Amino acid sequence: MEQQKLQELLSDMSLTEKVDQLLQVGGFYLEKEGMVTGPENTVGFTQEEIDLAGTVLGSIGAEKLRRIQKAYMEKQPHHIPLIFMADIINGYRTIFPIPLAQGCSFDPELAKEGAAIAARESAAAGLHLTFSPMVDLVRDARWGRCMESTGEDPYLNRQFARAMVEGYQGEQDADGAVALAKKGKIAACVKHFAAYGAPIGGRDYNTVELSERTLRDDYLPAYQEAIEAGVSMLMTSFNTLDRIPSSGNRRLLRDILRDEMGFKGVVISDWAAIEEMCNHRIAEDRKEAARLAMEAGVDIDMCTTCYSRNLDALVQEGIISETLIDEAVMRILKLKNQLGLFENPYKDADEQEEKEIILCGEHRRAARKAAADTFVLLKNDNILPLKQAAANTAFIGPHVENKMIYGGWSLFGRAEDTVSIADALRERKPDAVSAKGSAMLDNNRGLEVFDDTLDYQRDERQAAAMLQEAAEKAKAAEVVVLALGEHRLQSGEAASRANITLPDCQMELFRAVHAANPNVVVVLFSGRPLDIREITQKAKAVLAVWQPGTEGGNAILDVLYGDVNPSAKLSMSFPYCVGQVPVFYGGMHTGRPYEESMKEKFLSRYLDIPNKPLYPFGYGLSYAAFDISPVTLDGTVLIHEKGSSIRAKVTVRNTGSCAGQEVVQLYIQDQAASVARPVRELKGFRKIALDPGEEKEVYFTITEEMLRFTNIDMKFASEAGNFYAFVGNSSETQNKAEFLLK
Ligand code: BGC
Repeated sequence: MEQQKLQELLSDMSLTEKVDQLLQVGGFYLEKEGMVTGPENTVGFTQEEIDLAGTVLGSIGAEKLRRIQKAYMEKQPHHIPLIFMADIINGYRTIFPIPLAQGCSFDPELAKEGAAIAARESAAAGLHLTFSPMVDLVRDARWGRCMESTGEDPYLNRQFARAMVEGYQGEQDADGAVALAKKGKIAACVKHFAAYGAPIGGRDYNTVELSERTLRDDYLPAYQEAIEAGVSMLMTSFNTLDRIPSSGNRRLLRDILRDEMGFKGVVISDWAAIEEMCNHRIAEDRKEAARLAMEAGVDIDMCTTCYSRNLDALVQEGIISETLIDEAVMRILKLKNQLGLFENPYKDADEQEEKEIILCGEHRRAARKAAADTFVLLKNDNILPLKQAAANTAFIGPHVENKMIYGGWSLFGRAEDTVSIADALRERKPDAVSAKGSAMLDNNRGLEVFDDTLDYQRDERQAAAMLQEAAEKAKAAEVVVLALGEHRLQSGEAASRANITLPDCQMELFRAVHAANPNVVVVLFSGRPLDIREITQKAKAVLAVWQPGTEGGNAILDVLYGDVNPSAKLSMSFPYCVGQVPVFYGGMHTGRPYEESMKEKFLSRYLDIPNKPLYPFGYGLSYAAFDISPVTLDGTVLIHEKGSSIRAKVTVRNTGSCAGQEVVQLYIQDQAASVARPVRELKGFRKIALDPGEEKEVYFTITEEMLRFTNIDMKFASEAGNFYAFVGNSSETQNKAEFLLK
C-alpha cells in the first residue's frame, strides 16, 4: 500500500480504533471460541479490546493463525490485519543452542543461519515477527537471562546482533530497505532497551546503575548495530536506568534512540512494563503510566489495558496530543504494510509447508553443526577425543537421558523431537553403559510451581542407591563421561541465582564417580558460566555444552568422539567464584593494579581469591594445538585522517595432529586517555581452519575509528597517544605490539 493510502486509512480511523491498534493481547484470548472470562482473563480485557487489538503475542500454527486473522479482519472496521508476534529465540521447532553458546562460536554466520531457519519454520507456521535478538550485554553470571545474550563483549555482541537481524529479516538493499514481505522472512525486534543485562546483584528486574559513558561505550553499540541492520521493532526493558523505568524514559526513547541512534521502527513495551511503572512508584496510576509511556514514545502496550483504557481520555482531556497517537499508529501500520499484510494477511502461513520444512533433515543438520561449534573445551588432559573403539566408556549423570536440553524461550521446542545423549548413544554405541547417578536438583526451591515435573532429590534411600550404581559402573569403565549441569529452569527469565554452582546432589555424584575412577570427562550443561573450581581441578576434561538444542546429544557425541574438533571460545568469563561477579575481561584500569605474583596488600585485589576469572573471555581449547607468531605491524604510526590504517599480522600454525579451527583475536589497549579505559577491548577476530602442519597469515586492519570512545567531553572520539595491539587466542594473550595515533 502506498504511504498516501496509509495516511488516508489513518485519517479515517476513530480515536478508539487507533488506540486499540496500540494494544497487544496474548493469542490465548483469540484462540478461544467466544469470550475468555473469569479468572482465565487475568488482565480483564473486554471483548471490544480483544476484537480491536492491533497485534497478538504467542500464538502460532498456520491453520490457527489463518483462522484468527480471518475472523479478526471481518470485525475490524477497516479490515486492518493483525501482526502475529512470538519469542522465537533459539529456533521455532528446530532448536539451536542458546545465544550465549552461539556467541562462543565466534561465528556470526552460524547465528545468521540459525535465525534464517527459525524465520522459515515460524513463517510457515504463520508468524510475522519475533522478539529477537536480545542483545543485552551480560557480565553478571547470577542473572538468569545471560543465556539469551551473546555475552560480555560489545564488539562480539554487535556482530551477532547484525547477523541475527539479517537472518530473520534478510539483508537490506542499497537504500537500506528490507523486504519483510518476502517468503520465509519475519520481522525482528531487538531488546531490551536499555541495559537490562546489568541488574544490581544479578537479580532479575532489579535497578540498573551505569554511568552514561559505560552505557554508551559498552551497552548501546549492539542495539545500534541492530538498528543499522534495519531491525523493525525495539522492545523496552523492565529496569530503571538512572532511576527512570525505560518505558517512561523520554530521553532514552526519543533523544537517544530516535534522534541520536536513528531508529525509525516500532517501539513495544516489554510485558506489562508500562503498568509496572506504578510498582516503580513513578506513576500514581495506570493513566499516568500510559501518559508517561506515550510521551516517552512507546507505541505498543504489551498485554495491559493502560493504553486501551486511558489514551482516549488523555486526548479528550487535552493532556496528550492526538498527534502522538497518530505517529504511533502510523508506525504500526507501516510495519503491517512492510510485511505485506494488507495484500496478504496470512503471509506465509501454509500447513503443507509447515509439514515439509519443520524439523526437516537440512534444519536438523544445521542445528547439529551449530551445537558442536558452540561447545567450549575448557580442559583436556589428553583424554579427549574418546577412542571410537573404546567400548568401555560409561555415560553417567542426570543429563544423559535428559531431553529438555534446549534453553529457556524454546517455547515451541518439544522434548520428543530432541536427541538426548542417551538417544544418540542408542544410534552410535547401543551397548554403552549408562546410569543416572543423581537427581537433577537438590530441592524445588523457587521452582515450586513446577513441582510435578521437576527432577529433584525426594528420597534419600533412592539417592544412595543411584549413587552406588553409578560408582560401580564408573569403576568398571575405562573412562567416565559425566553429564552434569543446571536444570533448564535454573536459567532464563526470573531465574537469577546467588550460588552459581552445581546442586549438591550432582557434586556428590561427581565426587563418588571421581573416587571410583579418576578418568572423568565432564560434559557441562548450563545457561550461564558456573563456579566449577572443584570440577576443573579433578576432572581430566571439561566440555561446556550450554543448552545445545534439538540435536544436542548427537553434537555432543560428535565432539567427544572427535568427528568434530571443538573450536568455540567463551563469550562470557567463567568466574573463579561468585564473590568475583561481575567479572569480565574489559574492566577499567585502577589506580592500584594487581598481578597474581604481587605480595603487597594495598592493591585492588581479594585476600582470598584471585582477581582473574577461572576461564576468561575468548578462551577455549582444541584437539589440535596452535602456535601464534609474535604480532608485527606494517607501521607504528596511525595518522588521524581518513583512510589511514595499520596492518597487524600474525602467522598461525597448527602444531597438532588433527585439523582444527582457531579463533584469532585482536584486542586494543589505550595507554593513556582523558577518562579511564578498559584494560583491553576486542576489535576483531578471525576463525581460521588449519590442517596439521599448515600455517596461515592472519591480518587485522587497525583504524582510527576503532580507537574512539566517549571522552571527557562526552564526545565519541579518539585521542592521540600510544596503544598496544594484542593478537592471540584469548583475552589474556600477552602477544603485543605498540603503535602511536597522531
Ligand atoms: C520478556 C521478553 C519477552 C516478552 C514476551 C517478557 O517477559 O522479558 O523478553 O519478549 O515477555 O514474551
